[in-house]
Amino acid sequence: MTPQEVMKEIQSLTEQINYHSDLYYQQSKSEISDFEFDQLLEKLITLENKFPEFKKEDSPTQRVGGTITKEFDSVVHKYRMLSLGNTYSKEDLIEWDNRVAKGLDGAGYEYFCEMKFDGVALSLTYENGILKRAVTRGDGTRGDDVIANAKTIRSIPLKISQDVPNAFEVRGEVYLPKHEFERLNQEREDIGEDQLANPRNAASGTLKMQDSSVVSSRKLDCYLYYLLGDGMNFPTHSAAIHQIEQWGFNVSPTYRKCQDINEVLEYITEWEEKRHTLPSETDGVVIKVNSLNQQDELGFTAKSPRWAISYKYKAESAATILESISYQVGRTGSVTPVANLRPVLLAGTTVKRASLHNANEIERLGVRIGDTVAVEKGGEIIPKITAVVLTQRSLFSEPITYISHCPECSTELVRSEGEANHYCPNIDGCPPQIQGRIEHFIQRKAMDIDSLGTETIRGLLDHGLIKNYADLYSLTYEQLNGLEFKTYSEKKGDFSLRSLREKSAQNIIRAIEISKSVPFERVLFGLSIRFVGQTVAEKLAEHFETIDKIAEASLETLIEVPEIGERIAQSVVRFFDTPESIRQIDKLKAAGLNFEIIKKVVISEGSNLADKSFVISGVFTQFSRDELKEKIKANGGKVVSSISAKLDYLVAGDKMGPAKLEKATKLEVNIISESEFLALLDK
Ligand code: IVH
Repeated sequence: MTPQEVMKEIQSLTEQINYHSDLYYQQSKSEISDFEFDQLLEKLITLENKFPEFKKEDSPTQRVGGTITKEFDSVVHKYRMLSLGNTYSKEDLIEWDNRVAKGLDGAGYEYFCEMKFDGVALSLTYENGILKRAVTRGDGTRGDDVIANAKTIRSIPLKISQDVPNAFEVRGEVYLPKHEFERLNQEREDIGEDQLANPRNAASGTLKMQDSSVVSSRKLDCYLYYLLGDGMNFPTHSAAIHQIEQWGFNVSPTYRKCQDINEVLEYITEWEEKRHTLPSETDGVVIKVNSLNQQDELGFTAKSPRWAISYKYKAESAATILESISYQVGRTGSVTPVANLRPVLLAGTTVKRASLHNANEIERLGVRIGDTVAVEKGGEIIPKITAVVLTQRSLFSEPITYISHCPECSTELVRSEGEANHYCPNIDGCPPQIQGRIEHFIQRKAMDIDSLGTETIRGLLDHGLIKNYADLYSLTYEQLNGLEFKTYSEKKGDFSLRSLREKSAQNIIRAIEISKSVPFERVLFGLSIRFVGQTVAEKLAEHFETIDKIAEASLETLIEVPEIGERIAQSVVRFFDTPESIRQIDKLKAAGLNFEIIKKVVISEGSNLADKSFVISGVFTQFSRDELKEKIKANGGKVVSSISAKLDYLVAGDKMGPAKLEKATKLEVNIISESEFLALLDK
């Protein structure tokens, strides 16, 4: 390729990608599949790597990250980043309104209200329409430029092609959507990592990561709420917000103009419950005087504007007594302290326990047994202890000494440098770790033997019938039938003894038998190799094809596999270096589990679906999702992963996601049921 040709190709790819990404992120439409989109992006990345001289700073490839920033530039804010005054009651808010009225000498005024998002503030600087800096608040005067990370946020424009002022700043709040936070924690649970405490901490931690490709995978989002710049003559804040919305910035649809403080109060009441349905966490409402002249007139105090204030919703809180602390040991040996509280009614439910996360948190709170503590529940998050009522502390109480030995197996705990949690290193002898690994192994995403519940596993372990997941394959019907196990009744608050019935015993034996045909990548995921989640297991299986090759692979070979980093590679090597792992794998091999990938040969059944594309969503009665996919392929059809206007059919099963349904309806895609699909086959 000549340099001209390269430049032209880069430009053409850039335009196509920008077009599709704008369609997707600004208008929620799509004309191509995710796969086709990724291919365009891959092409552009390859070209840019080969010819870095042609790479532009607003290239859409910046969205996927890749830049490693060792240290962020510290940047002085052109306009200081102030905070807002807080109010916690309607009376305080009315008083603030009186001060505004007084400050404006009786002139009329209106308010602009929107939700207060609980994330991290970020200031974006654009020069000639191109995003140049993305600076955190820092101390309000100077912050860190996290531009490489901000560029991975899809809804932040890298370039604005409309006519915009030469220089301006837009400020907003970066947040981790609640569903992303849950997905991330589920993923972390699968690979044995500690849970992230809440979406806000997760967002702020993510924005400060050095590797922007990790940031890209976390799917942060951002609402913009403030435009700043010299020589811009908007009459009102709402006019400025409409303008940035037009330029393509993501503005929260919660905003509303209010004519007086009563309307503001109505807005506050209206959103008190409704806010929990929003994608981001919120903790209140921000109220601003809408006229920019009037904002100038009111001016600032040393810390915050007089023309704006926040109203914070009350986090429902209750006082109770910390009775004791229990320590739970997880599948990976990680220890979590749990506060046992005197039961207290909070937001409609009785709260008896709260997580204390780790030793640092206990120290930070300075809490002691017998203390009166404040417990809060914000939105849907688990209750947490937010403060200690020191005035009610007993004279005889003592600081908590964190346990030094495992509460389950008495092994001395370890705490590696830089880790918040203590761990029990007795991997093969500590009961909850063994039980946790078996539960991980049998889950639906792995071996799918979930007729075997937690309590039955406990029973099997207690009776010495199994010691690890491999032992499941030597269980007999006779051992299971009538097996006694303990079951806990929440109502009685106690255990009672039950025994396994014939039918359940048969079901378990059958499920264990069927699990022998589970594909290799799911077996690999089920083994509980730390940091090997579903996706990594798939990547490893695809690359190495057999467990023996993975076991033989060196650290260097593993790192060469796309998406396998050093941490995962080390963990894989460690796993296969452990004789106990090998013993169990040998046993599973002897039982006939799949330790090689099955290359699927599609046997043609007909051509009724020739050239038709399908997305399948939900669960089906006659087929598993995999079987349905095979059926489509065997009849000449194509299975794609995302809904676009070009899609021929969406096969909708039970419990399909509402977002998919909405998108398909919007794009007028043919939505068919399982039986309509069967009719298509038989036509
Ligand atoms: S307006 C002069 N609007 O709350 C400050 N701030 O406690 C103008 N925040 O620093 C800020 N949602 O990080 C504004 N809709 C919203 C907001 C919002 C969250 C944050 C922001 C600000 C902090 C003040």
